[in-house]
Amino acid sequence: MKREILIRHVAKTTRDMWDRGWAEANGGNVSLRLNEEQNAAVVGLQGQSEWIPLSVAAPTLQGERFIFTGTGRYLRNVELAPERNIGIIELNLCGTAFRILWGFESNGRPTSELAAHLLSHATIKESTNNYAHAVIHTHTPSLIALTYAFADLSTSNLTSLLWRMHAECVVVFPRGIEFLPWMMAGSNTLAHATADALRTRTLVVWEHHGIVGTGRNLDEAFGRIYVAEKAAEIYLACAAAGGVKKALTDDQLQAIADNFKCNWEKSLLAGWPGGA
Ligand code: 13P
Ligand code: ZN
Repeated sequence: MKREILIRHVAKTTRDMWDRGWAEANGGNVSLRLNEEQNAAVVGLQGQSEWIPLSVAAPTLQGERFIFTGTGRYLRNVELAPERNIGIIELNLCGTAFRILWGFESNGRPTSELAAHLLSHATIKESTNNYAHAVIHTHTPSLIALTYAFADLSTSNLTSLLWRMHAECVVVFPRGIEFLPWMMAGSNTLAHATADALRTRTLVVWEHHGIVGTGRNLDEAFGRIYVAEKAAEIYLACAAAGGVKKALTDDQLQAIADNFKCNWEKSLLAGWPGGA
């Protein structure tokens, strides 16, 4: 695989995030753990920086290479100047430091959510048996709005709401969506909580902030986020039109799960947030 193809894959995703209104200013960040084919696109690259210590250790990611968006960079600009807005990094053999192999010109660094991305990669590498390689964090307005609209949001009532408002949801995220209470952006606390949640989920909502989505590649991670965000949009459109008058029932959700052979976490079914 040529490096340009890898860069185009990232640029397409970041452009889509901008187009959807999920990546205002420098909001959102993307990372991809390079697979064998993608690693072939970066062989021969020499370290462009010293080893830079990580704020968290990720020993199971020792020696792995990643493509990351840069901190403070606008995702809409990746396609215009990839060498400035994204970069390729490599972890050391202890998973405690990284160095830049390409990009992040000039004097740039990977996203401030580096710890959340790396700990998430460590979790999903193990929990999906090396299947999942992509992590996207973005600021999806409708999901964020739900975290302001309800005071009692939880993993179960948020999952139930989304499953009930859009028939794709139970198929696309049958293990539910985690709701994490507000924590400081870029903190190790948020990073650890997110990675823990990803042991069972593919999506994690950060209260009053955004979402993290994971998948085999950026398309799958993006698609999962998009489906959840669309369900939230449908819910808010109904609320604006006078409220939800009917929604997918438990039996209908079970029928969809059976039809598509989804191993859904039915125990998450709960009432609506807000007690309605
Ligand atoms: P970065 O510019 O450091 O990627 O931060 C954006 C963001 O969304 C933080 O949560
Ligand atoms: Zn953010």
